Amino acid sequence: MRHLLNPLDLTVEEIDDLLALAGDIEKDPSRYAHVCDGKKLATCFYEPSTRTRLSFESAMLSLGGSVLGFASADSSSAAKGESIADTIRIISCYADICAMRHPKEGSALVAALNSQIPVINAGDGGHQHPTQTLTDLLTIHSLKGRLGNLTIGLCGDLKFGRTVHSLINALVRYPDVKFILISPPELKVPEYIRQDVLQANNVEFKELGNLDEALPELDILYMTRVQRERFFNEEDYIRLKDCYILTPKKMKLAKEDMFILHPLPRVNEISVEVDKDPRAAYFKQAQYGVYVRMALIMRLLEVGTPC
Ligand code: NCD
Repeated sequence: MRHLLNPLDLTVEEIDDLLALAGDIEKDPSRYAHVCDGKKLATCFYEPSTRTRLSFESAMLSLGGSVLGFASADSSSAAKGESIADTIRIISCYADICAMRHPKEGSALVAALNSQIPVINAGDGGHQHPTQTLTDLLTIHSLKGRLGNLTIGLCGDLKFGRTVHSLINALVRYPDVKFILISPPELKVPEYIRQDVLQANNVEFKELGNLDEALPELDILYMTRVQRERFFNEEDYIRLKDCYILTPKKMKLAKEDMFILHPLPRVNEISVEVDKDPRAAYFKQAQYGVYVRMALIMRLLEVGTPC
């Protein structure tokens, strides 16, 4: 039985296979409409979500399976003090696979260690979010035709943004990927990402405070919101929340073929006028999230590809 807790749980070959399957699903979703008939996905979400939970549910429904679950900690027995270990034992009796989101780092690992069914980490605190990374990789691959030989700018809250941590983890395995990490000093990437991931893999990166300076060099700009819920105090959040706002004027500094990604939700960091720019790829990115989650569910449940 396989779980997905971190993008590194998948080899580069397995990621290639998932992206290829997702691409195939995109071309002809109806071919896959019954591959999970009779299977159930549980979505156990202890933290707010729109895209991740609903795209998981949409993915399972599109494969012919069914879904059950809860969308907030207060509507589950967590509110009565039940542990994740006990909850997942029970969910294992009710479903074939589980996608879990929780505010504590490491919670998906605890679930996996106590589970009889595959557990997918749908976000554990400020740590990892591997299925957003699969979505991001599929988006980059379909826009650029490759995952190597790219200069990627990651901008915003690089400290608490779990999508950033997972994406860096995954991308360092491709050749000639360079990172420009754009954040205020308080929101730089955690030391373990800088040392154990970037430096340990001899990956070229620089850390900048200024978005304008980075823009002309980038092939991909990955914007993120400042993660209010992970701040210790509101004043710091207010001071930092609007540190970067991407506007049509700033987009003039970017290459004609630089694409903008964002895991969403957007707060203020991309002005709505930028949505009209053909380089704005964040809504398309959300659509790709369904195809790649369909592919992941198929692989973790080991259901065959229809002939
Ligand atoms: C992200 C998350 O939950 O980490 N959202 C998502 O899953 N698309 C990003 C965020 O909340 O800022």
